[in-house]
Amino acid sequence: DWTPDSFVDSTVASLKEKLGNDKVVLGLSGGVDSTVAGVLLNKAIGENLTCIFVDNGLLRKNEYQNVLDSYKHMGLNVIGVDAKQEFLSELAGVSDPETKRKIIGRVFIEIFDKEAHKIQNVKWLAQGTIYPDVIESVSVNGPSATIKSHHNVGGLPEKMNLKVVEPLNLLFKDEVRRVGKALSISPALLGRHPFPGPGLAIRILGDITEEKINILQEVDHIFIQGLKDNELYDDVWQAGAMLLPVQSVGVMGDERTYERVVALRAVSSTDGMTADWVHLPYEFLAKVSNDIINKVKGVNRVVYDISSKPPATIEWE
Ligand code: XMP
Repeated sequence: DWTPDSFVDSTVASLKEKLGNDKVVLGLSGGVDSTVAGVLLNKAIGENLTCIFVDNGLLRKNEYQNVLDSYKHMGLNVIGVDAKQEFLSELAGVSDPETKRKIIGRVFIEIFDKEAHKIQNVKWLAQGTIYPDVIESVSVNGPSATIKSHHNVGGLPEKMNLKVVEPLNLLFKDEVRRVGKALSISPALLGRHPFPGPGLAIRILGDITEEKINILQEVDHIFIQGLKDNELYDDVWQAGAMLLPVQSVGVMGDERTYERVVALRAVSSTDGMTADWVHLPYEFLAKVSNDIINKVKGVNRVVYDISSKPPATIEWE
């Protein structure tokens, strides 16, 4: 019988046997899968696991510091890498969504590889791959090509010349969450919405600048914090904000303004393959819209996305 506790016991035992005294490196993203993989490996091999958490400058507001702190509290041996400027300079002037994804994937691999090489004698690359990722990457290479290049770091093992260990590759998402609970990982972390690898880069339509990132981080923060404060966060599968490449006319006092438009998106889903927009209460949307327009300089209009997937996608890029 599969139980989270028996999975933890047997996996820790087999990881110990497989890895012995070898050094292992793991990339943490702040997401559920890599976190559970990290805690499990840490339980098996302790300090022989080095985790790397890269700040690509495209995370949510305060996310890098908050997540890094919680990893340290969990006792993980984690190195934080501030690579904001590298990502931003490589992305400067780029508007095409797939080009953005490719650049972010490539820069991530370069930075990760450089950090991993600072660790003496590392033999293994651990990944938080789960079963649906395995299936998806088979179909990616098969006849049904993906619509978007989701697997941003697919080139990592080839590039690094390390053996790969994937302790979660037979589990579904709900099982990963149950294992995380058995490992005493906080419910707040286990219940987090999915967040795309390319982060805010694919929620800023058009080219990316530091100013746009700052605006979107503030908008997103007001929306997500509002969902949490109103106990709506757990009813939503994923939520976020898009910064649109248009300006619209508004009025403030006696003045006309000509400022940015943001779109809010909240969806229900089970696996992200199909999704419905969430019927958030009007009062909530009204409050969030007001807060955004009053507090975030440069935004004078908020719209709510009422499209389902298909035919729309969850992200706008
Ligand atoms: P779409 O927009 O295709 O998104 O409906 C489905 C799910 O996938 C996430 N997503 C990504 N995740 N790299 C990722 O790691 C990507 O390039 C990427 N694009 C979309 C999206 O956030 C949603 O959860």
